[in-house]
Amino acid sequence: MALTFSMTPNPSPRADAERAEILGNPGFGQSFTDHMVVATWREESGWGDGKVKEYGPFQIDPAAAVLHYAQEIFEGMKAYRHEDGSVWTFRPEKNAQRFNRSADRLALPKIDEADFVESLKAIVAADESWVPAFEDGEASLYLRPFMFASEAFLGVRPSKQVTYSVIASPAGAYFKGGVKPVSLWLSRDYARAGVGGTGAAKCGGNYASSLAAQIEANERGCDQSVFLDSVEGTYIEELGGMNLFLVTKDGELITPALTGTILEGVTRDSILELATDLGLKPIERRIKIDEWIDGCNDGTITEIFACGTAAVVTPVGRLVWADGEVTSGPEGEAGPMATKIREALLAIQKGKVEDKRGWMT
Ligand code: COI
Repeated sequence: MALTFSMTPNPSPRADAERAEILGNPGFGQSFTDHMVVATWREESGWGDGKVKEYGPFQIDPAAAVLHYAQEIFEGMKAYRHEDGSVWTFRPEKNAQRFNRSADRLALPKIDEADFVESLKAIVAADESWVPAFEDGEASLYLRPFMFASEAFLGVRPSKQVTYSVIASPAGAYFKGGVKPVSLWLSRDYARAGVGGTGAAKCGGNYASSLAAQIEANERGCDQSVFLDSVEGTYIEELGGMNLFLVTKDGELITPALTGTILEGVTRDSILELATDLGLKPIERRIKIDEWIDGCNDGTITEIFACGTAAVVTPVGRLVWADGEVTSGPEGEAGPMATKIREALLAIQKGKVEDKRGWMT
């Protein structure tokens, strides 16, 4: 039976003026809307108790399994306002499918793709006034579905009770500098994921394991870390929360192949599909870190950019390591290909061009 989400409106939603102030400068992940979606899965009865209710803290037992064993997954997606005022999400079924792949890996229950999409519609309907205006450039309402082990039990086994939730947060640019090139620290001491591990799943643990490297990056004046494969420490994988693309002077658009330790990004997949329309040749293969360094030095690589739902397309400038650095793309601004791809993607998301692939819901 389909999961339904009964609505109990927040009795004291934020005043129009307060909401307008937040929407005027949303940043990323700082403010949350008036409502949230919640549903519960129990081993004996399956999914139920679907609700849209006032945004607020969970009552969580200190023995809840997620707090001890990190049995948790999440997704990230955005709702965009089009010029006619309507609100759209981008490829939500891709997020639903990945959510269920992550659920499988973390021994969590699956949720029907249709119920997942319904939960997004429910929160967007409740908090429609929080979706930034069409005129606000790339601003959107970031949606964060997540699921965690809520059973109070300290034995190590899959939880028999799980909480599903969706929260929403108005979002501007992910990085403070906007669409300026970011600098990356090459993490040699830490790997993000190992073979047979959870690297391809969108689970909190992967992000937690990226944080020590993030501190290292920040200490060296860099924005993010680049992770290499954990076996040879030779091949580029991804950043803490974004995939990577390299552009060559011959018009190739190369991204690390999905080896099981890399997250299959929806933005990554969409860029690969759009590449041919933009006159680029998409290639998925393993890429040695030396190819990045040598390619920037000899001009074979003309641009590098990171991508993700939150980051959209973000140019990469410097790559820094213990005793050296290399730079890609034009200084202080996005390269032409990163700009073209970013604009092509945003044009679809904001409904400025025909949605030929039926990506918007
Ligand atoms: C996203 O791009 O949606 C992500 O999940 C990356 C990060 C904010 C965790």
